[in-house]
Amino acid sequence: GGLASGPKPLAGKRVLITSGPTHEPIDPVRYIANRSSGKQGHAIAAAAAAAGASVTLVSGPVTIPDPAGVETIHVESAREMLAAVESALPADIAIFAAAVADWRVAEAAPGKLKKQAGAEAPALALVENPDILATVAAREIDRPALVVGFAAETDNVIDYARAKLARKGCDLIVANDVGGTGVMGGDANTVHLVSADNVETWPTLPKSEVATRLIAHLAAMSKAGS
Ligand code: CTP
Ligand code: CA
Repeated sequence: GGLASGPKPLAGKRVLITSGPTHEPIDPVRYIANRSSGKQGHAIAAAAAAAGASVTLVSGPVTIPDPAGVETIHVESAREMLAAVESALPADIAIFAAAVADWRVAEAAPGKLKKQAGAEAPALALVENPDILATVAAREIDRPALVVGFAAETDNVIDYARAKLARKGCDLIVANDVGGTGVMGGDANTVHLVSADNVETWPTLPKSEVATRLIAHLAAMSKAGS
């Protein structure tokens, strides 16, 4: 018994996962961030390793430990995350669970911004970050056979997820309904698996269980497609 001796449906497969938030610098001591804990992405990395895959996890700044048996690369910003992801390719399956900051400060200040008597508060000019998922899904060389995105949505969760699937060119979107409280940073998740021709809705489950089931689902998909 035990995880280590369980079935190994991803033996011989390479799995790449992003997790956590990104930090976008304002100056050397300040940044823009979000509330992502990394719990779901890290749990998926652990589940993929338990399923026998060779796993690379590209993680933004989180307070949780690196999963055992997973090569973990630590990054801060979206641009660093994209570079780490590109250098970790090729992979058979890529899962983009990170909450990447949509915008960064156009020009981070080289020194700490200081208050000046009577001066106005600084205005932050933002520019859009690269879309890591869409960039990988659009690759002509080394596109992973299965590219999986996440989408945290409220209201028309499945419609938004379908639109995201098409816009980003990925194979599956794991849409989580964050309309309830406590998903960001919490231990449970309610998800719908949205592909071009199917929607599968799961009950509210611990993030560890979502991870195990997602890995089993992807192992079945990659077997069907190979
Ligand atoms: N994603 C990414 N790089 C970005 C933004 C998003 O890789 N710069 C990935 C996320 O990891 C996730 C998916 O894209 O797998 C969807 O992210 P989401 O924030 O829901 O989508 P956006 O296109 O940023 O749309 P929204 O305006 O709803 O935030
Ligand atoms: Ca976003």
